[in-house]
Amino acid sequence: MLEGKTVVLGVSGGIAAYKAPEIVRALRREGARVRVVLTRAAREFVTPLALQTVSGEPVATDLFDLTQESEIGHIDLADTADVVLIAPATANAIAKAAVGMADDLLTTVLLATRAPVVVAPAMNVHMYENALVRENLARLVKHGWTVVEPDEGALACGYEGPGRLPDADVLVEAVGSAVAPDDLEGEAVLVTAGPTRESLDPVRFLSNRSSGKMGFAVARAAARRGARVVLVAGPCGLPDPRGIETVRVETAEEMAVAVRRRSRSATVVVAAAAVADYRPAKRETQKSAKKKGAMRLALEPTPDVVASAVVRKPGRLVVGFAAETTDVEERAKAKLERKALDLIVANDVSAEGAGFDVDTNVVTLVSRAGSEALPLLSKDRVADAILDRIAALRVRPSKKRVARTKKRRAR
Ligand code: PMT
Repeated sequence: MLEGKTVVLGVSGGIAAYKAPEIVRALRREGARVRVVLTRAAREFVTPLALQTVSGEPVATDLFDLTQESEIGHIDLADTADVVLIAPATANAIAKAAVGMADDLLTTVLLATRAPVVVAPAMNVHMYENALVRENLARLVKHGWTVVEPDEGALACGYEGPGRLPDADVLVEAVGSAVAPDDLEGEAVLVTAGPTRESLDPVRFLSNRSSGKMGFAVARAAARRGARVVLVAGPCGLPDPRGIETVRVETAEEMAVAVRRRSRSATVVVAAAAVADYRPAKRETQKSAKKKGAMRLALEPTPDVVASAVVRKPGRLVVGFAAETTDVEERAKAKLERKALDLIVANDVSAEGAGFDVDTNVVTLVSRAGSEALPLLSKDRVADAILDRIAALRVRPSKKRVARTKKRRAR
């Protein structure tokens, strides 16, 4: 997600500063180069040595240190940043940023950079709810900064409420959004993900190996690129992605109902779910007892969600997946026609590192215009490749949208 990007991580002096090494590691896992700026107060909670070790870069702490200024000067930090993340951001750091102060290295970098800035406040709940802090954050938002709301829960000060620094993954996602293109702004993307479960009785069901990872990656990537996203997810262990309306369903029938309702307002539908094709013809109300000999199970077809539940309308793009083990492309092409899709993602689920319950995938994008085979990629990158195609297939954006996007980028 952050391949080739430089993130300047500003760490200010709150107890959550001890989480900074974990944030650095999470950013680096996504391919970012991370340059850390520590305030004087932050050094009370985390050492430059720890951050230098995990980032593999010298850590900047002092505006007036001659060696540091010649090697990692504030203008160099400001200029090389693709994005600046302040995590944790204390009430003091937020206040100084909001009035444009430049009395230390971090605040100076913030004034000098032209990169987008993401702020993750973390502090005592009463401080966070203080009207002055709220006003300062609102001012930063007004100037185009992104504020990642803190999590609620038990705080280090003994109080409960909003004020906890969110998990590193949430911060990485916010950084990813700040550097992603806004090419899906104005789009409403509906994504299906995960398996469905079709009950035999109160304790048994038919299902498949889908983990939801592929569909969730598409939903997150679309949100990063500016789309409003609704995710309809079958039973899987993944948490609801932040900022994405997530509708949990269990059966193919429930998925069809959710999709029928939600697709009316969608401009793009991406069906990555592995929906069961059949369900037990009869669902027992009590647990069936084991009997002697073989058991026969009568199955009936489920509704085809993408073919029949997606409400069709001119201009609405419908993208499906095809999980295959043989004749992958031909079968995918047949599904493209049979299900009246605009694009299908042919997924050879027998290939090494591809398909169900892994973090990578190998797919071919198949449309009526031709096919494009992609190499083994992370599911996040596959999601972006699918969305690149979708963005290219969308009608030319309006002049108003282009102007809005340019204005946003200029900030
Ligand atoms: O979830 P992961 O572990 O990350 O795995 C990812 C994946 C392998 C599930 C994903 O990449 C994938 O291939 N999804 C489609 C799986 C599938 O059910 O393929 P299919 O060929 O059976 O279905 C074709 C299309 O019709 C799909 O878009 C499917 O969502 C849709 N379908 C199928 C049956 C049905 N009753 N209703 C449907 O809408």
